Amino acid sequence: MNTALNASKTNVHFRVNGEPRNVMVYPMQRLLDVLRCELGLTGTKEGCGEGECGSCSVLLNGDLVNSCLIPIAQAAGAEIFTIEGLATKAMHPVQRAFLECGGAQCGICTPGMIVATVSLLRTNSHPSIEQIREGLNGNLCRCTGYTRIFDSVRTAAETMTDEDRDELYALTEKKR
Ligand code: FES
Ligand code: FES
Repeated sequence: MNTALNASKTNVHFRVNGEPRNVMVYPMQRLLDVLRCELGLTGTKEGCGEGECGSCSVLLNGDLVNSCLIPIAQAAGAEIFTIEGLATKAMHPVQRAFLECGGAQCGICTPGMIVATVSLLRTNSHPSIEQIREGLNGNLCRCTGYTRIFDSVRTAAETMTDEDRDELYALTEKKR
């Protein structure tokens, strides 16, 4: 990062997975780096670093974004949801579906795929295959050929209970 472009560090406050967080960072530091390096939330992965692969996907105020493209200043006051927010007690049905359907191989794309799946299922509880393709079209996978990932999303949709859906919505709710 070119810190010469950023005069000085500043205090940024936001929430991550429901927890309030304060960091002293340069305003143009990437949200991805702040999550991984300042907060130790290494579940979010870096692939391309250029907004092309979706490995770094998180929800920012409920919207699916590439955290490698978001300056931390843009996240001030926001509600961020990362992969770590999903399994607070036990493996979440979305994670279980990826495991059981073989939707994860090397695993680099997997956290981003799961966050994109969460983003899709929070607004569409039973997506068609076309809607699944569209919902995940910002996320690239070099290993699986996608069929098993799409099967994982469909299985997750089928196995989630109403309670799971309510919990998911509460976890990722937009804060205004
Ligand atoms: S690492 Fe962010 S989109 Fe690829
Ligand atoms: S499982 Fe390897 S890139 Fe998707």
